[in-house]
Amino acid sequence: AQLPLAPTPPMGWSSWNKFGEKIDDATIRAMADAMVSTGLRDAGYRYINIDDGWQGTRDADGRIRPNAKFPDMKALTDYVHAKGLKIGIYSSQGPRTCAGYEGSYGHVRQDAQSYADWGFDYLKYDLCSGEYFYDSADTVKRSYAEMGAALEATGRPIIFSLCEYGRFDVGSWGRLVGGHLWRTTGDITDDYKTMAQIGFDKNGKAEYAGSNGFNDPDMLEIGNGGMSEDEYRTHMTLWAMSAAPLLMGHDLRQTPPAMLKLLENREVIAVDQDARGIQGKAVRKDGTLEIWAKPLADGSVALALFNRGDAAARMSATAADAGFSAISAVRNLWTGGTHTADALGFDVPSHGVVMLRVEGK
Ligand code: DGJ
Repeated sequence: AQLPLAPTPPMGWSSWNKFGEKIDDATIRAMADAMVSTGLRDAGYRYINIDDGWQGTRDADGRIRPNAKFPDMKALTDYVHAKGLKIGIYSSQGPRTCAGYEGSYGHVRQDAQSYADWGFDYLKYDLCSGEYFYDSADTVKRSYAEMGAALEATGRPIIFSLCEYGRFDVGSWGRLVGGHLWRTTGDITDDYKTMAQIGFDKNGKAEYAGSNGFNDPDMLEIGNGGMSEDEYRTHMTLWAMSAAPLLMGHDLRQTPPAMLKLLENREVIAVDQDARGIQGKAVRKDGTLEIWAKPLADGSVALALFNRGDAAARMSATAADAGFSAISAVRNLWTGGTHTADALGFDVPSHGVVMLRVEGK
């Protein structure tokens, strides 16, 4: 069974993309501080997630202990909670995690109980070294179900994030094992090519996505410096159109103002967080030009005009793109401006996007 903890896609931050294994108590606290001081918490980002690299060894009873960089997990979760935030942790189902730390193999119930006792609200559960043990859909499913049940048995509400890279048609069973989100691909990297491949071409099936169960195209790279501003705007727009989890992956203390604008745009976040939880998709493609639509709870439709090409292009949206016969109002979500229905032509920069919210009938 699955606890309804993610009516909309989870939002927050994770340590992996920027810090890898170079994490410690002080860095996690600093991210919680920066989440508040940047205004990102109040824009909706709530989870501070510790990824791989916190684990130490097991005690004589088999209980997992954090390594020396995390002297007191309970004190750390208390600190993060006191900021009005939630906090996540990471493990893998094999004996070793991807980075070679102690995994949960043979200790699933014990580990779930430790996470709950420490005060964690979110678990990302990887599939490393597990591959050698869990090599079929059935065994992988069973091992995720085991952790899902163990988390539920703790009685603490803990979001369950499945990190199995989209294998074994995970969307078709993610909810059944207690999952609230499941990865659809391998790891994102901080470059346009990889981000675009994941965001445009490797989407999880839209029919699997919805309240409490979302396709996860991996964490954001916005702010890490490997893409242009137009490319990061495309990244944010694609993830919002896809009802994807919005888990930032940069050093929150160093968020350039232009990146903060991308991450904090309330109207774009509202598209991602829309109560209907529909995963948007391409409704029209013409070479490197793609128009995407995402129907929203109030009857309006988010439209994104993406130019994947290497030169600027003229693009136009139509009422039919939104499933309307006529458009009555148009809001431009990145400029904050409005348009009239007869003027929906735009010059879209290379690798850039125009994002609209349209009303009509
Ligand atoms: C693989 C995952 O896809 C990454 O997001 C990260 O969690 C690493 N494992 C950690 O080792």
